[in-house]
Formats: sequence, C-alpha cells, structure tokens
Amino acid sequence: MPAGGPYANPALLTLAAIAAAGGCHKPLTFDQQDIDHHQMLAGVGPGFLLGVATSAYQIEGGNQNDWTDWERGRYADGQPHVADGASASRAADSWNLWRQDVAAVEDLGANVYRLGIEWSRLEPTEGAWDTAAAARYREMLVALRTARRHPIAPMLNLYHFTLPHWLAARGGWEWAGAPEAFAAFAARAADAFGDLVDLWCTLNEPNVYVTKGYIAGQWPPGVRDPARGARVLARLLQAHALAAAAIRVHDRADADGDGSATRIGLAHNVRVFDPAGGPVDGLIAGIADNFYNRAIPDAVATGRIHIALPLAITIDEPAPALRGSFDWLGINYYTRDLVRSQIVRAITRRGAPYDQVADPARPHSDMGWEIYPEGLYRLLLSFAPYGWPIIVTESGVADRAGKLRPEFIRSHVYAIDRARAEGVPVIGYLHWSLIDNFEWSHGYEGRFGLYTIDFAGDPALTRRPTAAVATFQALARGLGLR
Ligand code: NOJ
Repeated sequence: MPAGGPYANPALLTLAAIAAAGGCHKPLTFDQQDIDHHQMLAGVGPGFLLGVATSAYQIEGGNQNDWTDWERGRYADGQPHVADGASASRAADSWNLWRQDVAAVEDLGANVYRLGIEWSRLEPTEGAWDTAAAARYREMLVALRTARRHPIAPMLNLYHFTLPHWLAARGGWEWAGAPEAFAAFAARAADAFGDLVDLWCTLNEPNVYVTKGYIAGQWPPGVRDPARGARVLARLLQAHALAAAAIRVHDRADADGDGSATRIGLAHNVRVFDPAGGPVDGLIAGIADNFYNRAIPDAVATGRIHIALPLAITIDEPAPALRGSFDWLGINYYTRDLVRSQIVRAITRRGAPYDQVADPARPHSDMGWEIYPEGLYRLLLSFAPYGWPIIVTESGVADRAGKLRPEFIRSHVYAIDRARAEGVPVIGYLHWSLIDNFEWSHGYEGRFGLYTIDFAGDPALTRRPTAAVATFQALARGLGLR
C-alpha cells in the first residue's frame, strides 16, 4: 500500500471503517453443505504453515511475573483477579512436560508450532540472562526441528501479555525505556535461538493487552484510562519496530535453508464489529473497528501511528521504523461483536461505549463468544489490500465437551479457503490451542485444547486427545504431512 494511502484521509478512513465494520455489508452466511463438501486447503502448496499455538505463561507453570501478582492479589486493590482463585503456578506444567507437547504436535502432523518464551524467566532481573532456562528452550526447539515425521518449524513468540517484575516496577510499557528493553531481549533471543528459528512473532495482541489492562482494567496493571491505553499501544508499536530490527541484525542463520533467516510479524487480534441496529450503532462499530482492527496495520503500512479514541485522545506521530517491519501479518480471530451503542456511556466515558448483543440464531462457545466463521473470511478480505502474506496465528473455541471444535475447525478453514480463492495470500493456519491452558481471568474455565487436561483430577496432567485431533490430522493428511 502506498505511504499514507487512503488511510491518511480521516473522512475516507471513517467510511472505510464503517464499511469494514459491517455498516454497508451484505449479510453473509456460509452454506453448511458447502462446508461439508469442501476439500480443505486444496491447492495451498507445500510451503503452507499448518500448526498449533500456545503461550509460555499459559502452559509452562513455575513463572513469576506481573500476572502472578495479579492472580494473587498483590496489586493495590489487594484482590485476586482470576475465576475460582485459580493461578498459573503449575498450569499444564509444560516446563517439565514439554516432550509430551512436542509429541502431540508431531502426532497432529503440524509443520509449525507457535510457542512462547517467557521474558521473566529468561531475564528475571534487568540485564540478566538465565542460561539454564535458555538451554531448555533450545532443547525444545531442537526437538521440533528434528521431529520424527518431518521438521516442525518453531514460530517463536516474544511477548504474550506478561512482564518481568523489574519491568512492571518501572511502569511496564508506560516506561519510556520499555521498547529498548524489549529490543535488547529480542536481540538476545535471536542470538540464543536464531540458528533454530526463522519465524519470529514479536508481540501477541497488543490491542487486547491495552483493552484489558488499560481500558477495562481487568488485567494488570488494572487501569481504566483509554488515553493511557492509547499511549501504551503506541509504545508497543515502537517496541515491535525496534525488536524486529534487532532480530534482523542478530539472527543471520537460515534455520530451514529456504533462503531467509528471519520472517517477522506480530499476532494481531481482530474482531468483526457489526451494528446491532441503526446508524449510531454503525458509528460506534466503526470507531471500534478503526481503533481495534486498523490502527496497528495502518501504522506499519504507513510508518505513522494514528490512534483515535474520540473524546479521549488522538495520537498522530511519525514512526518510520515500523515500515517494512512485517514479513507477514498474524491474525488471531475468534468472534464478532454485535454492537448496541451506549451513547451516554460513550460520551461520559464511563464504561464500555457499547453492549454486545447475542444473535440467538448462532452457536456460542463456552465463554459466550459467537461462532462466526464468516467473520474470518470478511476480515481476511479487508486485510488483503495491505499486501502482506497473512498467517492465521490463532483460531479456536472454548469447548470443554469437545463437541463444537471439529466443525469449528472445518468452518474456519473453509473461510480461509474462500478468502484464498479470492486472492488473499493466506500462508498459514495455526489452531489455538494445542492443549488446555490457563485462560487468563477465566482461569481453567475456558478450554481451548485439541488435547484436554484434567487439571483438578489428574496429577499427571495427561494430554488426552479430543475429537478435533482427527479433524486436524485430516488437514495434515491433505497436505501430505501425515
Ligand atoms: C488469544 C490470546 O493470545 C490467548 O492468550 C488466549 O488464550 C486466546 N486468545 C483465547 O482467549
């Protein structure tokens, strides 16, 4: 996309955002028969990335960081903040049981595994580097690369919502030195793991982090101040740019021999915002879409950060280092919001500017999220004009009984295939998640695993396959990976 492009014009931007948010869209419903008869991922070619994703804190156990404090009521309000008083202190114990995880990835037939490294574990005090922890991560990466069936490419994720204590104490991402600190961590990670890793994911879902931590106040640091949130989002973008540059300098080793030592992106959470009713709902949906879905890719495309939260803040600043920082765009897609505006709350900035309306005609996950595969298709189409290859870095469903997940996978892969058929360069699909894990404020209530774990009743934390394992394996078989 040319610098500035249509995104430089606020009026056009608003119109585009409202259109993208659904204000002008034709209703779209996939035909179940089409999904049933569709040949999944046909014709994607040998380089397609088929895999699964996890994050370090959600599965490893044994970590100490700002989230640990949040769980245990060590913030100013003195309250624990997780359902049922749960904590990630053991989680899925992947720090010790990681060989089982790698075996599960292998058994699926995946050729990529997006996993995290935990910043607080590797750099527990500022400037330190835990060589024993780094050695264990290397073991995991080697095991993936030398997997029995075929090599599994690790996609290494550097930041996934948790901060080392020393950094949180300095103000977290509000500290002006945070981007440099993150880039230094990225450089060290590239030095330590670059010979095994080509796929780098700098940040996971900066928009979710900001929304939860700085607008809704549900995650650490528990702030409810949209203007602060917008500033943190800008800081995270700067951090991504610095980290990407550092990785390119420090990782010169082409791990898989395909001619490129680094393929860098970030995982961007996207939601469809559709108006539940009239034009005001459409307006609020458009503002939400603009802030939540567009601000990040627009900034990387244009080299200019423009974040607008009406009545709270507008940030408009150059960030030339962002341009060229993506080799791919990662999309994490789960659901849509049907937006019913709450105009008084929006104007007074007391609480969320809209309520979510449930569409009773649609299935919902255990966490109440609407299952809406059409949204993935719509969003993929809307991100195509940026021109980056797109990896679906997460897609999944909270489904303790394991009944929804097989169809969820099929319908979302169908959405990807429909988008690909229209020319959207989707180069990968990673399911969230490999195993059940610690679902942040929801504790162990949200079960996303292809393999399920009985956290309360099974001290061995056995990874047990759900019905969707066969669904995933069928995808792998279709690609000749199994
Ligand atoms: C996206 C986040 O990256 C992940 O941490 C979370 O568990 C899933 N969404 C499900 O909510």
